[in-house]
Amino acid sequence: MNTIKKVTWQSPSNIALIKYWGKHGNQLPNNPSISFTLEECYSETTLAIEPKIGSSNEIELRFYFDKKENLAFRLKILQFFESIHKEFSFLRDYSIVIHSMNSFPHSSGIASSASSMSALALCLCSMDDMLNKRKTPKDDFFARASHFARLGSGSACRSVYPVMASWGKNKHIKNSSDKFATDCSDWIHPIFKTFQNSILIASASEKKVSSRVGHSLMETNPFATARYKQANDNLNTLIKALMTGDLDTFGEIVETEALTLHALMMCSTPSFTLMTPNTLAMIEAIRDFRESSQIPVYFTLDAGPNIHLLYPNKFKSKVHEFIDLELKQFCENGRIIFDAVGKGPKLIK
Ligand code: PMV
Repeated sequence: MNTIKKVTWQSPSNIALIKYWGKHGNQLPNNPSISFTLEECYSETTLAIEPKIGSSNEIELRFYFDKKENLAFRLKILQFFESIHKEFSFLRDYSIVIHSMNSFPHSSGIASSASSMSALALCLCSMDDMLNKRKTPKDDFFARASHFARLGSGSACRSVYPVMASWGKNKHIKNSSDKFATDCSDWIHPIFKTFQNSILIASASEKKVSSRVGHSLMETNPFATARYKQANDNLNTLIKALMTGDLDTFGEIVETEALTLHALMMCSTPSFTLMTPNTLAMIEAIRDFRESSQIPVYFTLDAGPNIHLLYPNKFKSKVHEFIDLELKQFCENGRIIFDAVGKGPKLIK
């Protein structure tokens, strides 16, 4: 190995509370979104540079996932690199070797694009700083990493910040932008920093429809305009609830957002459904449990059938009991990933 320099970042996945669904231009969102950053579900990516083998101007890239060369991922990353090489001249000057792994199993139904693309963008920005012998100030560094993570996979831009991040212009969020995400951890009520996220795996199968296709179907969705207005209104209401610690309003908005996302899928042309009967059974059970226990426990959904159960840490033991007794039976092979709001990406020395 003739490694000249290398850098490793661990970067987490995130779960959206206000959903990004529909985009335009170069990965720009049609509405603002906000998410919890997770802790246990992350990607770890190492980017190394070696002397170039060939003399052409082509990008030389080897990509390993779980220590095995992966040509499908390589092709995706190569396209991404082609689109951003002007900003990172080292991509053409050296031979690039990437090793990546996920903390969560590949076929767990957890989207890995947010964690993997944010980890890669962080590596690119660190390598660029190292090679140019500069130290970009922290805020600018993460805004830049977020910008490139967005170009790799929209929602990935929210993964570079701890606890909670928003993406998309909103008049109540300082420094908010459609081009990169904004750290929201300093203005939310402390209760939200204790939130748990138990991921109930209704199905670990590969998604029938990719989010890329899902976003594009919004272009002809008859409810698109109303949806983008609703997302803005929901975010404004949610911001107030996040500031004051109003859990009832938080839960109402978060659940509406999850169901709206799936309703939009169902009324696209062609339409598709990602929820399964077990997803619905869990939603019913969660509503009943909340009603009878008065415990603030809420669900959200990604673009898939799995339930993300959200609740403050102080109710953990009661909620775990409920999961064991009532929800586990609806999970594929009883699979649940116990995650929580996290501290954001980590540079590995
Ligand atoms: O980042 P993408 O293109 O995979 O889209 C993500 C879309 C949702 O996960 C459904 C919502 C979101 O805001 O994360």
